[in-house]
Amino acid sequence: MIELDAAGVTVRSGDADRVLLHPTTCTLTERRVALIGANGSGKSTLARLVNGLRPVTSGRVRTLGLDVATHGPQVRARVGFVFTDPDAQLVMPTAVEDVALSLRASVRDARERDARARAVLARIGLAGHAETPVHALSGGQKQLLALAGVLATEPEILVCDEPTTLLDLRWRRVVDGLLDEVDAQVLLVTHDLDAAARADRVLVVDGGRVVVDGPPLDAVAEYRDRMAAP
Ligand SMILES: Nc1ncnc2c1ncn2[C@@H]1O[C@H](COP(=O)(O)OP(=O)(O)OP(=O)(O)O)[C@@H](O)[C@H]1O
Ligand SMILES: [Mg+2]
Repeated sequence: MIELDAAGVTVRSGDADRVLLHPTTCTLTERRVALIGANGSGKSTLARLVNGLRPVTSGRVRTLGLDVATHGPQVRARVGFVFTDPDAQLVMPTAVEDVALSLRASVRDARERDARARAVLARIGLAGHAETPVHALSGGQKQLLALAGVLATEPEILVCDEPTTLLDLRWRRVVDGLLDEVDAQVLLVTHDLDAAARADRVLVVDGGRVVVDGPPLDAVAEYRDRMAAP
């Protein structure tokens, strides 16, 4: 469960404080929640509140019952975050080493870690790239690998910030399927309105506010109308 009571998030911009996200209050209990909105509307900012990557200036965010401001590490141990840019997340020389790194806290035996990492790579269609240097993977393959590393940790909540932007249709379907079946609450930031429509609840963010919150088809239709308006 994610409880957002963010009275505002500010950043320093020049010599003034700029508010990125205005009052945003909601409790997210649905298994699949999608976050849609225009570029620069505040989706990534909102997603980052969930595990404390972006602290609130005032107000409170509780994730899995824990106050993110005071329990950041405990929350982050249970909440997986997939970034839009896989290069922000991939740090090891090869694909299998990168996934194994995610497992180092939970699996102590190195051979077991390697076997588990290979199993996750197989699940996500990268079995043939276990030894491939990460820098030699395509953009889409890197995006899949970043997701594999997070799935390997078996998070209770999975926050995905545009996890399919670089993927072709076939792999987008694979990722959609994985996000559907994963045993975690999923908060999906996406510009893919078909994926958003399949969620249980959709939030539309506009100008740093949640402006629509409701049933997916209604929320997606409202967002389309807003985008069509001059
Ligand atoms: N550290 C920062 N300093 C100044 N402005 C920032 C900072 N982080 C975000 N912003 C601004 O806050 C606004 C919201 O950004 P955010 O990344 O949440 O948007 P978004 O909805 O995820 O957009 P996109 O669809 O392009 O990813 C943008 O105008 C962005 O430029
Ligand atoms: Mg974003």
